[in-house]
Amino acid sequence: MTFDHKSFALLSEALQSLDQGFDHLPDISTTHDIDKLRDALLSAAERMRDNYPYHHPLYIGQMLKPPHPVARLAYALAMWINPNNHALDGGRASSAMEKEAVAQIAKMFGWETHLGHLCGGGTIANFEALWVGRELRPGKAIAASAQAHYTHSRLSAVLGVPFRKIAVDALGRMDISVLEKELARGEIGTVVATLGTTAAGTVDPLHEILALRKKYDFRVHVDAAYGGYFILADNLSAETRQAFDQIGEADSIVIDPHKHGLQPYGCGCVLFRDPSAGRFYQHNSPYTYFTSSELHLGEISLECSRPGASAVALWTTLRMLPLEKGGEFARGLEAGREAAIMLYDAFKHDERFAPLFPPELDIVTWAVRARMASESSALARKIFEAAAQRDLHLALASFPKIMLESCAPVSHWDVEEITCLRACVMKPEHREWMPKILNRLRSAVEL
Ligand SMILES: Cc1ncc(COP(=O)(O)O)c(C=O)c1O
Repeated sequence: MTFDHKSFALLSEALQSLDQGFDHLPDISTTHDIDKLRDALLSAAERMRDNYPYHHPLYIGQMLKPPHPVARLAYALAMWINPNNHALDGGRASSAMEKEAVAQIAKMFGWETHLGHLCGGGTIANFEALWVGRELRPGKAIAASAQAHYTHSRLSAVLGVPFRKIAVDALGRMDISVLEKELARGEIGTVVATLGTTAAGTVDPLHEILALRKKYDFRVHVDAAYGGYFILADNLSAETRQAFDQIGEADSIVIDPHKHGLQPYGCGCVLFRDPSAGRFYQHNSPYTYFTSSELHLGEISLECSRPGASAVALWTTLRMLPLEKGGEFARGLEAGREAAIMLYDAFKHDERFAPLFPPELDIVTWAVRARMASESSALARKIFEAAAQRDLHLALASFPKIMLESCAPVSHWDVEEITCLRACVMKPEHREWMPKILNRLRSAVEL
């Protein structure tokens, strides 16, 4: 068995407890035909077999981490109510739970006051932060590194704001000298610092970006959709730690509980340091907001209907796994980092591979040594396929020459980019599984 079945019985117990809150109401009997339900559900189970095994430690491909059992169960429990966190009218308890959970995330970054809420994911969360940035610096451009998530340039286009792509250095971090040249032109209103880039898990030098604020007027938005929780890890390099230690100085932060926060999809989070950013969200809604004069989350978010179940899942997870340094949750992130370092060390001593640079978080990227750049890419694709045949699921990512020159995987650059292999070792179990992962990888390479 590869799924956790044991915790499932708890759902029935929790559902009975939830039911007791409504037992003063007249009974409503269910009219569902159980046989039809079974048929439909078993068809879905069968269809869902057609997936990569995201939940298994042999899956080290994309940024996919199974939700914690408590998150899964709490989400399912909330489905019997199906609250809508747009307004207290639609999700009273779950709105309160969202405010509490979001405050805990803000506190993790050192913010005692903030404005923030959950949303569909990193894209929507970044959208809100960039939108507020536009309102506060009208007519100015948004700058992000060439390794920033692709949605930043797209969101800038949606917002009608010019976008400036800032070159990266050999370590895949924003090149600060290039950024400064752009800032000196006086056209940039918001700089996006990515703490944990999607492809390589690199961390922009936030401390250096913040230092530039003394000379130039711009907002700093931290896209920590992937990396944010690593602020709790005790095994970051000194340089990476320096960036994480300054997150609280940013104007806005995005973090995705559905990436490293053990949550089901549909759970992003945007935070603003200055709660007065809420004024940009102001609107009238004559058909909601009437049950309470307290803050309804729809008054401070762009989306209208939102799943209260996401907040219930996050709140319940935080109750079990608080966001503490040295706690169980932090240890899980540290285990992933250790796994990444093990993988990097193995490649460093293998003459067939050229790891790009030591991992800053838990993503490892490596090229296959060859004479020509195009040959290296072809070999990477071959290994990717051969590994998948051995149930080891990797990812591929293309990197520009600048990020590959120091590991020198090829002697001839017939193309300007190389397709490399990439592993996201996000699951705490990856540390123990590393010898097995390496065995399968070696066998794939020896094909
Ligand atoms: C750094 C970063 N920002 C933003 C996003 C977009 O997040 P989502 O896919 O949740 O919309 C991602 C997704 O991988 C990401 O890695």
